[in-house]
Amino acid sequence: MTDTAVAPTPQADLDEARWLLPVYAHTPVEPVWGEGVTVHTRDGRALLDFYGGHAVALLGYRHPRLLAALGGQAEELFFQSNSVPLAVRARAAERLVRFGPAGLSRAFLVNSGAEANENALRLAFRHTHRSRVIALEGSFHGRTAGAAAVTWKSQGWYGFPRTPFDVTFAPRKDLQALRAALGPDVAAVIVEPVQGMAGAIDLGAEYLAAARELTREAGALLIFDEVQCGMGRTGHPFAAQAYGVTPDLLTTAKGIAGGFPAGALLVTDEVGQGLKTGDLGTTFGGGPLACALIEAVIDAIEEDGLLPRVRQLSRLIRETCQVGPVAGIQGEGFLLGLRTTRPARAIVDELLTKGILAGTSGDPNVVRLLPPLVLEEAHVAALARALSEVRP
Ligand SMILES: Cc1ncc(COP(=O)(O)O)c(C=O)c1O
Repeated sequence: MTDTAVAPTPQADLDEARWLLPVYAHTPVEPVWGEGVTVHTRDGRALLDFYGGHAVALLGYRHPRLLAALGGQAEELFFQSNSVPLAVRARAAERLVRFGPAGLSRAFLVNSGAEANENALRLAFRHTHRSRVIALEGSFHGRTAGAAAVTWKSQGWYGFPRTPFDVTFAPRKDLQALRAALGPDVAAVIVEPVQGMAGAIDLGAEYLAAARELTREAGALLIFDEVQCGMGRTGHPFAAQAYGVTPDLLTTAKGIAGGFPAGALLVTDEVGQGLKTGDLGTTFGGGPLACALIEAVIDAIEEDGLLPRVRQLSRLIRETCQVGPVAGIQGEGFLLGLRTTRPARAIVDELLTKGILAGTSGDPNVVRLLPPLVLEEAHVAALARALSEVRP
């Protein structure tokens, strides 16, 4: 990969600015096609994608399994809602439940991470008849009313007159604070086992196991938000399995369908018990295209042996990429934070000039890596080389 300067503003940027609300900062590249881990831009550059479109491109680009599943299902049946049974939906739900931690036996299929969390919170209130939720400092759970209410510092953009329920934020990895915050009115504790937006902060097996115990004792439910860290990204199906801790509810989305909008909520029999027609609902969730792709993603992870590869290459990144401006590496699997000696924004920009797409995070000194699970050794070597050429 050759060194190329960051291009001027792409035409698509100017065209978007004419018609869309100006709510996103743009990286100055316009990808037009991709293959494997590489995206090709309109101005002819080839970039190694270590960010995966916010963790969504789980299998990279043009993956044969995704193309076959999407094409095949589109030919057969493009859409039908949840008002009719579909074999592909039943198969996707079974695959997901079997992929998830033992004990979470039922799925509800939705369209996004926020929608999955919204429904997880709704079920927690229904199940416990309680009114407060504990979330952690640094958390990100989405932008809908309930999900944003449990998102740290969402007050800056919340946009609704008030939150729909009471929330207590506890410092992360602080068991004493969690114990103190719990009380008879707490319906649920919601955590990202590896906090993504915060900069790939691993809460660790010990904290999560203790949180499991504390919530059980307090009669509150434990929700794992694995929207970003789930679907193989930790090198295990979910962080729940990586840490050996089973929550009462687990949400996932992002890469679940390799880039097609989809999300899911997995729950225990106990939480699912008593639910009846109309208690939850969604139009597009569980649509046939999404379901065919969920199946294809799980097939790829399981049949192509991607989980051990993630663990192995994650180790390789840790061993070889602590160079140049990288002072330390945190996180798990392919949800990694490079702790940098200079502002992460500048380093992400410099990496782009060297053909590497990476991301920032909520921590101004953490570069976030969320590469596709199909990453190879040569890509890690290219990243290490690029980082070593960046001024410390
Ligand atoms: C941990 C986590 N939860 C929830 C969400 C919200 O997901 P979505 O944008 O699909 O609604 C995100 C998105 O970044 C996330 O990282």
